[in-house]
Amino acid sequence: MSVEKLIRRKEVVICAGAGGVGKTTTSAAIAAGMAQRGKRVAVLTIDPARRLADSLGLPELGNEERQVDARRLEAAGLGGGGELWAMTLDAERTFDDLVDAHAPDAETRDAVLSNPIYRELSRAVAGSQDYMAMEKLHELHQDGRYDLLVLDTPPTRNALDFLEAPARLSRFIDSRSLQFFRAGSRAGLGLLGKGTAVLFSVMKRATGVDLLQDLASFFNAFGEMSEGFRERARRVEDLLGDSRTTFLLVTSPRAASISEAAYFNHKLRDLDLPFGGVVVNRVREQVTARPTSKLESELAGLLGHELGGKVAQNLGDEVRLADRDARNIGLLRNELGRRPMIAVPELPGDVHDLAGLAAMNAYLFA
Ligand SMILES: Nc1ncnc2c1ncn2[C@@H]1O[C@H](COP(=O)(O)OP(=O)(O)OP(=O)(O)O)[C@@H](O)[C@H]1O
Ligand SMILES: [Mg+2]
Repeated sequence: MSVEKLIRRKEVVICAGAGGVGKTTTSAAIAAGMAQRGKRVAVLTIDPARRLADSLGLPELGNEERQVDARRLEAAGLGGGGELWAMTLDAERTFDDLVDAHAPDAETRDAVLSNPIYRELSRAVAGSQDYMAMEKLHELHQDGRYDLLVLDTPPTRNALDFLEAPARLSRFIDSRSLQFFRAGSRAGLGLLGKGTAVLFSVMKRATGVDLLQDLASFFNAFGEMSEGFRERARRVEDLLGDSRTTFLLVTSPRAASISEAAYFNHKLRDLDLPFGGVVVNRVREQVTARPTSKLESELAGLLGHELGGKVAQNLGDEVRLADRDARNIGLLRNELGRRPMIAVPELPGDVHDLAGLAAMNAYLFA
């Protein structure tokens, strides 16, 4: 099965999965492969390894797509009629962009952006990075400049935690504390517990920061934009559930991946979201040689007792690990039923450049 068939007619591909399984590299490889096949593709990466970012020509910071140099693609054997664009999502910056877009006037915008509470909050609102990733996805999809968008997702405990982000933001906007602070100013002080009130005034004396005043003015400005946020969150959710979108689970051949795939399957079904298939990454290839006693004595003769023994033991480990992977993949296949699965082997060395992505594509686009 080729990933090309799997994402045919799709406009958005979301690569989700547990931490460290290869979401970022898989996203980049799929994007490069589709560009090679003539599409205009943008990949939205999250915190890529520096070397991969360098090889895509991405700067350290910046929430703008950059086109990957066609000559570099060509040199890596990824040349074709299309275009590959890449960007790194930098959560805080996008949050600022969003405030910029929704603020009713420049005054409100500056009030929010310069507010110390906002600076803290834009970092701290749980999952703001997740949310912003989808925000950007929505924005680019609206633009219509690309045939395909590939979204990398942030490492979360659960492969689909990030899906809760828009709802979490909406909940935050509706939360009582927000309403309270919007209404409240100094008068609100009396409504706070006595301990809290004392805390605020001690903090003000000690630090010179008028936390309560900051909170009140922040939430007042923020509140005026909340309708815009909520509306966007709704449209982001619509895009995720659209038939032009598909979710790929990137996973390892570990035993845990089987229950993870089951979870992914159920969760997407519950949320009515489209599950495209699974990429099992870093599969250890089957070793044909078996560590027989004949081989062991041959190795001992060739390399001496100690080294020969180590090599034989190493081979035994390789065989066991490869067998274990094969067994888990069998179980995973059962779990998935007719859902497509693509296996990518453990490649020699890290995948950190365009040539590495091309090597991965030999399997993704097999
Ligand atoms: N098939 C492969 N063979 C060898 N190395 C690989 C393969 N796939 C990924 N890697 C390497 O594994 C490491 C983790 O990959 P990657 O950064 O894509 O994972 P991730 O799921 O995005 O991680 P995180 O959850 O931290 O964002 C990288 O160093 C990458 O080069
Ligand atoms: Mg990653």
